[in-house]
Amino acid sequence: MKFFVDTADIAEIRALAELGMVDGVTTNPSLVAKSGRKMAEVIAEICSVVAGPVSAEVTATDSQGMLREGRFLARIAPNVAVKVPLTVDGLRACRELSGEGTAVNVTLCFSAAQALLAAKAGAAFISPFVGRLDDVGQEGMDLIAEIVAIYANYPNFRTEVLVASVRHPIHVVQAAKLGAHVATLPPGVLRALFNHPLTDKGLAAFLADWARTNQTIA
Ligand code: E4P
Repeated sequence: MKFFVDTADIAEIRALAELGMVDGVTTNPSLVAKSGRKMAEVIAEICSVVAGPVSAEVTATDSQGMLREGRFLARIAPNVAVKVPLTVDGLRACRELSGEGTAVNVTLCFSAAQALLAAKAGAAFISPFVGRLDDVGQEGMDLIAEIVAIYANYPNFRTEVLVASVRHPIHVVQAAKLGAHVATLPPGVLRALFNHPLTDKGLAAFLADWARTNQTIA
């Protein structure tokens, strides 16, 4: 399973990339706004740090505008994946950009039917938002199970399931059990994956016992 990091904070990306756990990055207009930086500048910098796909989202809502912005974003670096919303215009732009060889991440997916359309439009990634579904009382992970099962029926689909709006480590484990290709994780969730109180407790006990031996290993 690939881990993308869901942030436009370059310091966070650099720190997490050093752990060797970052296969790509996703951003969205809210995350870029939070960074306080220019979209093109921040995307270029992220692409220079991470070799895998870096999603940069269009903000136009008509397909012509999305194409103009998408082509601009795709020229920033070869590993840019253009992110478009799951609308009629978004899927039109997806088909066109994918045909030009640009990887497209179709975002704001909340149903299996929408995911089917994205695959037919040639998307490289479909981004179902599990946390936002959980927030409205729908089981977000059920959507991942549906999409994974549907895509498996059609081996000609090349679209990867990118689990988005991840809120905690259980989402990550559930997505992995379902065979989702990618999860995009807020930095805090990626860091939380490393932790278990029994690991800390066990290590402290081992080190205390070891200290009593007065040995060194090397
Ligand atoms: C990533 O591509 C999405 O934009 C992101 O995961 C949304 O997460 P949120 O629901 O926590 O804003």
